[in-house]
Amino acid sequence: MKHFIANWKMNGSIEALETYCQHLANTKDFLNDSIILALPALYIPKAHQCLKNTPIAIAAQCVSAHKDGAYTGQLSARMFAELGCSYAIIGHSERRETESISSTYNQMLQCIHSGLKPILCIGETLQEKNEMRTIEVLTNQLQPMLTLKQQGHDIWVAYEPRWAIGSGLTPDNNEINIVAEWFKSLSASKFIYGGSVNPNNIENLAECTLDGFLVGGASLDYKLTNQMVNICTHYS
Ligand code: PGA
Repeated sequence: MKHFIANWKMNGSIEALETYCQHLANTKDFLNDSIILALPALYIPKAHQCLKNTPIAIAAQCVSAHKDGAYTGQLSARMFAELGCSYAIIGHSERRETESISSTYNQMLQCIHSGLKPILCIGETLQEKNEMRTIEVLTNQLQPMLTLKQQGHDIWVAYEPRWAIGSGLTPDNNEINIVAEWFKSLSASKFIYGGSVNPNNIENLAECTLDGFLVGGASLDYKLTNQMVNICTHYS
């Protein structure tokens, strides 16, 4: 089965979460971690309670680059681990506006020290794509992951072209496969695709050399999620 990672971003409610978890209950025979929910931090304890005895894992949407200290409002990787998270999304494009590449390195390091598996997002803007700079941009963003990988740490990577996020646009399969092949030539780690994935295009996208999907908008609806999860079960 391909992995299905739902990224709720800053959406949802406790009530919606309870309904969502109830409808994912029929996934109890799935392999561990084939479904991962990246939820708003405040909803994680509730999700942990609703999802115990299921193979569904929980992810943080971001973590602090610091271990602990005087960082008002920030949440550490260790705190997410304490709440039952096992993954953390790092470097999502909605956060890269204010976060440097070295910060993504430190965030991943904190995750590793706390037992969270980082899922590093990389992706080019439309302008960078048009200037044929995709691989150059991705190479820069990937560097911290490759450094940690050399030290023996397992990190997943999500290719999320910025222009595809929330736009309804996706690269064609050939474009995704070119990036996937480039990535696989550097690392044997899991390679995920994200950006405007929905029940209508996931089957076609599943033909690419991918280990799974990171889904934003379409993952908020449990019916759409169930449809996409079911399709993911048909692909290895
Ligand atoms: P989208 O978001 O599926 O709404 O395009 C994906 C993401 O931002 O991870």
